[in-house]
Amino acid sequence: MTRTAYVNGRYLHHGEAAVHVEDRGYQFADGVYEVLAIHQGRPMDLQGHMERLGRSLGELGISWPVSKRALSVVMNEVIRKNRLKEGFLYLQITRGVAPRNHAFPKDCDPSLVMTVWRRRPLVSPIDEIGVEVITIPDIRWRRCDIKSVSLLPNVLGKQQAVEAGAYEAWMVDSDGYVTEGTSSNAWIVTPSNQLITRDASRAILNGITRLAVLGLAQANSMDFVERAFTVEEAKGAKEAFVTSTTSLVKPVASIDGTKIGDGGAGPLSAKIAAFYAQHLEGQGSAA
Ligand code: PDD
Repeated sequence: MTRTAYVNGRYLHHGEAAVHVEDRGYQFADGVYEVLAIHQGRPMDLQGHMERLGRSLGELGISWPVSKRALSVVMNEVIRKNRLKEGFLYLQITRGVAPRNHAFPKDCDPSLVMTVWRRRPLVSPIDEIGVEVITIPDIRWRRCDIKSVSLLPNVLGKQQAVEAGAYEAWMVDSDGYVTEGTSSNAWIVTPSNQLITRDASRAILNGITRLAVLGLAQANSMDFVERAFTVEEAKGAKEAFVTSTTSLVKPVASIDGTKIGDGGAGPLSAKIAAFYAQHLEGQGSAA
């Protein structure tokens, strides 16, 4: 089936969807994005993604290209035109098109682009087999809380992981603490069964999946703390996993070759994955 993309007010064939060469997203990575999971034809955690988008735009001084309501109408139209039931929607807003100059242009309308891709049904039980993680220095800027399209360190880090035969690279700050994965948040379970993930600051992207999992941990009276942890602590953890819109809750089998637990999904990770699956299922089936 043909795919339809949205570019600044027009629905186009995916292969022909393009922006101008002087779009500031293209020249300066001057823009922000969101990736939303679509389940049963509905965007998941829409409110959380819209709030984070608004925050990212605000931090960069980019205005909404259309109203939030109109944005949601366009999203639904993109989902409808693609007959998308299970997949992802990518949404990008840049400062817009202007002659190349580092400073913000005076009159410039933000560019809005959306595209989708499909995948197998979203809600499946947690993978039994964990993934490999490597650790690398975090070479990013100091505003990782902004979901900016400027992802070069993340791209290089993920490539390093792939070349090492791993699924993800956990980035480590100059004090030896794990910040997050190149496209996911990092979690460990301590030997005393406490769930740990780094506190939300400018050092990490506050994942929507992360927030959902924290909410689920709280609602189910699980013991959790938001704090930084070292690579050493992570290697000695009982369980570890990553969370993101695209990876859901994915167990980690090893970190830099050190086996975590028995290398599969630990009991706490499996419990969280099940709660998260219910969280999505509830939104998908809600009329
Ligand atoms: N990435 N940290 C980073 C650096 C990320 O890029 C992402 C998501 C996350 C998890 O955020 P969320 O739970 O809201 O998906 C954490 C998306 C999926 C991407 O770039 O493809």
